[in-house]
Amino acid sequence: METLDQIVAQAVSDFEQAPDSNALEQAKARYLGKAGQLTERLKALGKLEPDARKSAGAAINLAKADIEGALEARREALKEAALAAQLAAEALDVTLPGRGMGRGGLHPVSRTIERIEGLFRSIGFEVADGPEIETDFHNFTALNTPENHPARSMHDTFYLEGSDAVLLRTHTSPVQIRTMQAHVAQFWHLSVMPEIRVVIPGRVYRVDSDATHSPMFHQVEGLWVGQNVSFADLKGVIIDFLRRFFESDDLKVRFRPSFFPFTEPSAEIDVAFMHGELEGRWLEIAGCGMVHPNVLRHGGIDPERYTGFAFGMGPDRLTMLRYGVNDLRLFFEGDVRFLAQFR
Ligand code: FA5
Ligand code: MG
Repeated sequence: METLDQIVAQAVSDFEQAPDSNALEQAKARYLGKAGQLTERLKALGKLEPDARKSAGAAINLAKADIEGALEARREALKEAALAAQLAAEALDVTLPGRGMGRGGLHPVSRTIERIEGLFRSIGFEVADGPEIETDFHNFTALNTPENHPARSMHDTFYLEGSDAVLLRTHTSPVQIRTMQAHVAQFWHLSVMPEIRVVIPGRVYRVDSDATHSPMFHQVEGLWVGQNVSFADLKGVIIDFLRRFFESDDLKVRFRPSFFPFTEPSAEIDVAFMHGELEGRWLEIAGCGMVHPNVLRHGGIDPERYTGFAFGMGPDRLTMLRYGVNDLRLFFEGDVRFLAQFR
């Protein structure tokens, strides 16, 4: 039979090898539990003579105290180790530099619009705006595009639910009508009205999506109405603007005859990519023309006394050309890695 000293030594070594508190409690049961080795010895005391029982009992109690001491010591050690592990896992390096907010910047299309506004302001244009939710009247009818006119199908229109008279504007041209009406309301009493010279940036919407078309995009409308405004003025203003916008005197620009119900004659303006893999390829950037007499009338202006030109250009397309970007949808996906390149 093992001596008490051997049992104590075995218990102390078991406890020390217990890797965690679970294993430790199991080891404890082997010595101090109901059927533990020391408990068995205590039970056996009853069979001894009173004298022998007394000394054996004292020895067992000493051994028990030793085992309990070792158990308590190991419990403490395991608790400290667990705490140390937790502290190490949650350690915070307070010497690391902070992450900060990052530096923002204007969206490349916003930059283009600001640049367009600045260049037109420098030649005496004002900047105006109008509603994105428009009436069918301003978006089409007043622009010489009556109901059932085939030109309405040139724009795939988003209508507001439950209405065929209210829509998301398909272009910024309805603001031509609003601008002329407001101008006339202010100056009708003068024998000659001051000129209207205005650019109108804003968001427009069409059921449209590919590399050069997005369902939400931007336009900048231009309108110049006065007593002797001609197509030559239109060409001069546009070409001068584009050269300054692209900072290039040998920019390739062409006016391509076209049709709009609200201008006559009409043209579309194309610019060639100057760099990137698309170099040399033409991209349409605007529609333009002399304001149709019916449109002047809807604006309250006498077409016998005044003429004007208008244009509607796509700043998203100008941004593509300026930076050599081949897919316009990249501008509206909100990927910061793409947008940050233009800061
Ligand atoms: C118009 O919207 C006419 N209102 C322009 C106009 C104004 C003509 C005044 C005459 C007088 P158009 O549908 O071509 O025309 O659009 C004008 C420009 O907007 C295009 O040249 C192009 O640069 C841009 N654009 C048109 N559709 C999209 C689209 N889905 N995504 C991005 N840009 C577009
Ligand atoms: Mg067009």
